[in-house]
Formats: sequence, structure tokens, C-alpha cells
Amino acid sequence: MTAALQNDLYLRALNREETSRTPVWVMRQAGRYLPEYLKVRKQAGDFMTLCSTPDLACEVTLQPLDRFNLDAAILFSDILTIPDAMGLGLHFETGEGPKFSNPVRNRADVEKLPIPDPDDKLRYVMDAVSTIRRELNGRVPLIGFSGSPWTLATYMVEGGGSKDFSKVKGMLFSDPALLHELLDKTAKSVISYLNAQVAAGAQSLMIFDTWGGVLSPANYREFSLRYMQQIVDGLTREADGRKVPVVLFTKNGGQWLDIMADTGCDGLGVDWTMNLADARAKTADRVALQGNLDPSALYGSPESIRVEVKKVLDSYGPGTGHVFNLGHGIHQFVNPEHLGVMVEAVRELSQR
Ligand code: CP3
Repeated sequence: MTAALQNDLYLRALNREETSRTPVWVMRQAGRYLPEYLKVRKQAGDFMTLCSTPDLACEVTLQPLDRFNLDAAILFSDILTIPDAMGLGLHFETGEGPKFSNPVRNRADVEKLPIPDPDDKLRYVMDAVSTIRRELNGRVPLIGFSGSPWTLATYMVEGGGSKDFSKVKGMLFSDPALLHELLDKTAKSVISYLNAQVAAGAQSLMIFDTWGGVLSPANYREFSLRYMQQIVDGLTREADGRKVPVVLFTKNGGQWLDIMADTGCDGLGVDWTMNLADARAKTADRVALQGNLDPSALYGSPESIRVEVKKVLDSYGPGTGHVFNLGHGIHQFVNPEHLGVMVEAVRELSQR
């Protein structure tokens, strides 16, 4: 038996049903800006141990909820768990971010990639989801997530983070068929991974397309959006008699919000480079919108944070369908108390 949901503002807003106020959560809400996270992270030793130990992943997922009045929890994990389960050898080098020992560079590399069974090498993620869902005990809904195929492919081909994406773009222009094969395999892996998260207890799903915004409009459609469409079409959209809303987020993708809405997703993440009124006009209220305070606004004073929160709420305007969030993940060096100021300002200023 799973506990009844006590706070469903987040799910209601994504379904564009009436809410008493605007729900709020924050990308990367569990993480290095919290001293209590750093403590557990130190005990675990490394980041992947934290992700792969369900009790620890659960503990850090709940930390921000114990501190702030947030309306959703997000699974503590990473988008790179799928390529790791495919055998790419994920490791994190301090100060350098994620790295793969076995990057994907040619046809042989693509062909030998398995589509990971979520109940085998990714079992630890499903165990984390069911543990978190149980411990949440109905407080707020749990968000599951994955990276978009294009964003995962950038890390898989580059072998880590990148500034110019020379290797993956080299593949895109010199051997597009090979990149399509990689993206198709990755999309199939994402579908089975996300459906397994829903079976384990995730109540909403988000797809992070962090690097879609580095593509030209035509290539965005062909190499990123097309595979997010494949995913939206393949997902379980209902669980326990309730809709499981799906949110797509392409960072720097403001110009494509209309074609993203055409996928049939329920909500779109919006970064801070676009005004929410424009985003709403562009999507003609067909989907909910999530965002979009500049994460750097949290470096400002408490007074300035309240002013900036009001600007975001006002730019969305009246009516439901808005989930307040930052326009990207919270920065590592933000004072946690400033996030508290933001959350309380959203709750107070959005009362209907
Ligand atoms: O939002 C949440 O609280 C859930 C957890 C979450 C993490 N990563 C935890 C994490 C989520 C949703 C992600 C997604 C993710 N991971 C993305 C897409 C979202 C985005 O930010 O655009 C990307 C591109 C990654 C890949 C990745 N993982 C990077 C670039 C890094 C940072 C590496 C570094 O050293 O700066 C990670 C590691 C990571 N993922 C951390 C956390 C809390 C920091 C790990 C640590 O404790 O050292």
C-alpha cells in the first residue's frame, strides 16, 4: 500500500488544473550547496556510491524537503547512469566533472552497445525510487528523470563534458546515420529506464536536454527533438489511476517551445533567457511551463530575491499551469537560506 498524496499541487499544475498557489521545486535541489549533503557525500566517499546506495540516495533526496517547503521531490541520481550501464565506465574526476573510460567513437562502438535491462544493472536506481517513495509517505510527488538521447550522446561521444562538442558534431556531419543509430539505441534505453522508474513509484518524469540548445534549428529537430518524441510516445502515462505528467527541458531552447509542445508532453522547462509571457504565447497554453528564475538571482540579497520572484510570477500571469523553478540547476556556492527566501516568496506572492 502506498500512502495517499497529501500535496498534489505540482501534479495539478502540470495538468493545468486549478491550484491554491504556484507549486515550487528546484533543479539540483539535493546537492553541494547543502552542508548536510556534503556530510553524507563525504561518508559515501564518491558520488556514484551515493547514487547506488538506495538508503543514502533516499536520505539526500529528502534533505531539501526537510529544510524548505518544496512541492516535489526529485530522485537523487544522474543522467549518466544509462551510459554507465551500457559499459562506458563512468567516473568523476574532481574539478573536471564526469568522464567515460570507453567513449563511443565508431560503428563498432555503437553496435556493441547494449540496451540495459533496468532490472539488472540499473536495479539500484529502481531500488532508490521505491525507497524514496516509501519514505516520502505521500508528502509530495516524486519526479523521476533521464537525459535526452542527444544530451547523453554528447557525453558518450565526447567522453565527458565539452565546450565545442567537436567529436559528436563531427559524427553528426560526417556520419549522420551512425549518430542516428546511437540516438535510437539510447532512446530505447531511456524508454525502458523511465517506464521502470514509473513502475517503481515515480509520479512524474522529466527529460533533461541540457545540450539541445547548441544545435541549429534543423539539427535540433532531427537529432534531439525527434528522439524526445520517440520517448514521449513510448512512456507509461498513467499509474495508480493517475496521470504521470512528462516535462521536457531543452536548455537554451526557447525558440523551439512550440514544436516541443507538439510532442504531446505535459509541461516544458523554460530557462531564464526567455520571458514566461512569451513562452506562454508561443505554446498557446497547450502545456504547463516550469521555470524560470535565473539561478544567479540567489546570489542577490533577500529583498532582491523577492523582487525577482515576483517578476517571474507576474510574467507567467494569471491562471494555472505554472510550476516555479530556477531556469537551470542551483549553483554550488549559493547560501541555502536564500533558497528558503525564494520558496517562501513563491508561496506568499502566488496565493490565489
Ligand atoms: O535535481 C536533483 O536534485 C536530482 C539530481 C541530479 C543530479 N544530476 C545530481 C548530481 C540531476 C537531475 C542531475 C542531472 C544531470 N547530470 C544533468 C542534466 C541537468 C543539468 O544540470 O543540465 C547533467 C548534464 C548531468 C551530468 C553531471 N553529473 C554533471 C555535469 C555533474 C557535475 C560534475 C562536477 O563535478 O561539477 C554531475 C555530478 C552530479 N550530479 C552532482 C550532483 C549533486 C555533483 C556530484 C558531487 O557531489 O560531487
